[in-house]
Amino acid sequence: MAKSYEIINHTYDAVVVGAGGAGLRATLGLAQRGLKTACVTKVFPTRSHTVAAQGGISAALGNMGEDDWRWHMYDTVKGSDWLGDQDAIEYMCREAIPSVIELEHYGVPFSRMPDGKIYQRPFGGMTTHFGEGTAQRTCAAADQTGHAILHTLYQQSLKHSAEFFIEYVALDLIMEDGECRGVLAWRLEDGTLHLFRAHATLLATGGYGRCYFSCTSAHTCTGDGNAMALRAGLPLQDMEFVQFHPTGIYGAGCLITEGVRGEGGYLTNSEGERFMERYAPHAKDLASRDVVSRAITMEIRAGRGVGPGKDQAYLHMEHLPPEVIHERLPGISELAKIFAGVDVTKEPLPILPTVHYNMGGIPTNYKAEVLTLKDGNPETVVPGLMACGEAACVSVHGANRLGSNSLLDLVVFGRAAAIRCAELIKPRQPHKPLTKTACDESMERFDKLRYANGSHNTADVRLAMQKTMQNHASVFRTGEVLQEGVGKLKEVFNQFADVRVSDRSLIWNTDLVETIELQNLLGQAMVTISSALNRQESRGGHAREDFPNRDDENWLKHTLVWLDNDHQVSIDYRPVHLYTLTDEVQTIAPKPRVY
Ligand code: FUM
Repeated sequence: MAKSYEIINHTYDAVVVGAGGAGLRATLGLAQRGLKTACVTKVFPTRSHTVAAQGGISAALGNMGEDDWRWHMYDTVKGSDWLGDQDAIEYMCREAIPSVIELEHYGVPFSRMPDGKIYQRPFGGMTTHFGEGTAQRTCAAADQTGHAILHTLYQQSLKHSAEFFIEYVALDLIMEDGECRGVLAWRLEDGTLHLFRAHATLLATGGYGRCYFSCTSAHTCTGDGNAMALRAGLPLQDMEFVQFHPTGIYGAGCLITEGVRGEGGYLTNSEGERFMERYAPHAKDLASRDVVSRAITMEIRAGRGVGPGKDQAYLHMEHLPPEVIHERLPGISELAKIFAGVDVTKEPLPILPTVHYNMGGIPTNYKAEVLTLKDGNPETVVPGLMACGEAACVSVHGANRLGSNSLLDLVVFGRAAAIRCAELIKPRQPHKPLTKTACDESMERFDKLRYANGSHNTADVRLAMQKTMQNHASVFRTGEVLQEGVGKLKEVFNQFADVRVSDRSLIWNTDLVETIELQNLLGQAMVTISSALNRQESRGGHAREDFPNRDDENWLKHTLVWLDNDHQVSIDYRPVHLYTLTDEVQTIAPKPRVY
């Protein structure tokens, strides 16, 4: 039956999957360099999840006081709990400056200082003089920075004649002889299947926050690229590191930007105490996110939570001048009103740590080339395949990402991917022949899900997965709880094997879309919880109560994880790059973190 699907063929120099910040920055860079470029996206570009990024993009511009990209690099290495690759971090922090100035020239409507320079706010973990002072490094467009960047990059990509394939669901990478030859996608509007052949396929498909019950991510954040990589037999890296943002709105999960604390907001417990002063005497409310999320959780556990169930904390901004809220934080004021019924100029907002970001993803080098472990070499490049943005693990965030380094990662490595493609690909060079059966396995999987006729509906199976991840792979973890979670996830996989899709059509079949997404999420949930069980130490966002210390002797290494067709996980490792890219900066040796 599967072979009866007709496939429409396209050939491009490069195809980008995903149209968030990373995908659009790559698309623009490729098109600018004269490469015939397709961007395939399951949502309209300006609806991609980058639109929800609030607080800003980091770059040591020094507009609001002294700054240096080396201090930014130091903060990022320290924030990563030394799991970040220092060559890549050097690249990102140095390239931050030209990348943000480029954005300004493309037309991003940044907030401005009276002298016309881009406005920059303080963010957690961002310091001057290697930890001495507070840096104002996060370039902001009020609290809608992602929105501003996304619209600008889409407009620029259109100006440079990039071609967009909108509302196409990417199904699988097409691999032959260990090389990526393109991607198969399903067009929702008319139900047709499309093969995009390309010399470079760039995965910019974002994170997989929707594995969890409560997250700041859009419903579309199902990590489709990560799942395609796993199905292609490639490893994912450092999947145990899931970031909880300290301030999601209680109950709704919507993000309330760290920019609130950057503008002077603070947290309190049921005793009215500013408890961050105890947990991080130096950085206080602007300590890094792993620290603040753990502190809130510990306050709640100690019975000092607020609200009827004593399971929340308060975020205060009622003391801030109304003009600051109006000018700098208009978006979150609206969110607070709609989702919590709170007027932030008058009363505190109930918040709770909420899943926000995946540090792990598809392993790449700083040129955005995908890496795998082959013949003992963990730096083996997979020809034809690249990844950038949250889908990738470069790894610049290591075990914990600093706020505002995500928009930066998208832009710097989207741009790096385009630069690398232009080095590797000549415009319009011919494509190697592809075997006739290259798409069969993917079409069979698609067809099987389309006609799935079991006894569980997709939403119930998804909920079971999300609750398992929320309860068993949370802010604090133990071996026992993680092991139990692995067992529960196996049961969820069994339910999925007996799933039912009620709509058999091909046109805008959202039942089938959600089932495909769920299959993608399930694989990532399994490798996440298994990697968390495997890592017997605490580092960054991975806090094991049974192994409370960081253990550099045994665990200063990246996890590589594979998933086979029977959902069996296998794990290996990759060394952390504790060396820099140039001699302009010195390697930052691991040391205990002080807050
Ligand atoms: O808090 C925020 O505005 C989020 C920023 C980020 O995740 O980088």
